Amino acid sequence: MTTPAQSPCQSFLKRLGTPLSPSATRVMLLGSGELGKEVIIALQRLGVETIAVDRYADAPGMQVAHRAHVVSMTDGPALRALIEKERPHLIVPEIEAIATDMLLEIEREGLAEVIPTARATNLTMNREGIRRLAAEELGLPTSPYAFADSLAGLQAAIDDGKGGGIGYPCLVKPTMSSSGKGQSLLRGPEDVAKAWEHAIQGGRVSQTRIIVEGFIDFDYEITLLTVRAFGANGEVETHFCAPVGHVQASGDYVESWQPQTMNAVALEKAQEIAKAVTGNLGGRGLFGVELFVKGDQVWFSEVSPRPHDTGLVTLASQRFSEFELHARAILGLPVDASLRAPGASAVIYGGIDAQGIAFESVADALQVPGTDLRLFGKPESFTKRRMGVIVATGTDTDEARTRAKLAAGRVKPVAG
Ligand SMILES: Nc1ncnc2c1ncn2[C@@H]1O[C@H](COP(=O)(O)OP(=O)(O)OP(=O)(O)O)[C@@H](O)[C@H]1O
Ligand SMILES: [Mg+2]
Repeated sequence: MTTPAQSPCQSFLKRLGTPLSPSATRVMLLGSGELGKEVIIALQRLGVETIAVDRYADAPGMQVAHRAHVVSMTDGPALRALIEKERPHLIVPEIEAIATDMLLEIEREGLAEVIPTARATNLTMNREGIRRLAAEELGLPTSPYAFADSLAGLQAAIDDGKGGGIGYPCLVKPTMSSSGKGQSLLRGPEDVAKAWEHAIQGGRVSQTRIIVEGFIDFDYEITLLTVRAFGANGEVETHFCAPVGHVQASGDYVESWQPQTMNAVALEKAQEIAKAVTGNLGGRGLFGVELFVKGDQVWFSEVSPRPHDTGLVTLASQRFSEFELHARAILGLPVDASLRAPGASAVIYGGIDAQGIAFESVADALQVPGTDLRLFGKPESFTKRRMGVIVATGTDTDEARTRAKLAAGRVKPVAG
């Protein structure tokens, strides 16, 4: 049986309509932050009718969509009511915190196609689903891991879990969380109770399940942006962007660059892992496959079945950004994942807690050669909220990184 996501014969895929008319090709974004905003802009350029959904008003993507709705996306019935009202052809999740059980139902009923598949959104919203798939079903190399539901269970997993215990150092993460929330690095037994408390408070939903992972002492980590798109013969083909290197601080990305230099063996392994995991998740679209690399060794960490924050660099470095690649792939159009120039991105944080902030010294920042800017337009700033990004190109990634950081440092968020 072909899944709905893989069938090349859906009628809307054979042509693109006119927005706001009966022929419109309608796409609904679930989550309309900075990544969704760029996907919407890419879709708008192709004449797609776009519907932005998020849990707060004036989210970045809502400001560039045909219509916007404020809905709690973890509320299954509310989500369904909205989908029945808007009747999108495609539903494009931009975040993990969605009632994915409802998406499974919607896909099963053929009400709309979920990108890349409802199963992919369901498995990847929970670290347990994707980790068990990658390690236990697909046999991909990952950090050693165990799951626990109590402090005693966590301690036992570290001391004597499968394979003799995870040991120290290790990381504890809520199974349902992102952007480093609720994560701790444990160096010894004295850190266990604190890590447990932190994970319980940092989880996305009220639940007490955690994953404990052995610490991988990697040389560098990458995001391998991987695109599943129809080729000329109507079969899904897998394309790889050049690897994106990045730096994380407290589980949140601060800087990325492309291409990350890799040896040929590691690159081949990375692509094999990415192909295996995205192939299993299925459907069409762009995925961000997170991998750790040490010499020739490569470990799978996690995967987003959607554009990845570290991939913002592609706005400068690729012929088509990751957002344009996602838009093209989901519409059944051909993709070109080629690099245009070495590039880098550097995050601009809010720096202050305030509504309606302003940005000063933008002109100064953009005096740095090879740079460009995205300000996301988020209505409310927090000290550590990502409010914008500088992207830059250079003769190599070192130059691009220096330029991006220099320019990002010049942008000054101030009270409005
Ligand atoms: N087992 C590990 N060994 C070493 N470092 C790790 C390990 N797991 C996570 N990290 C580090 O912590 C970062 C965040 O971890 P992870 O990607 O699992 O969390 P996340 O909350 O999903 O973050 P994000 O949403 O930003 O991707 C990783 O990018 C990596 O730098
Ligand atoms: Mg991650």
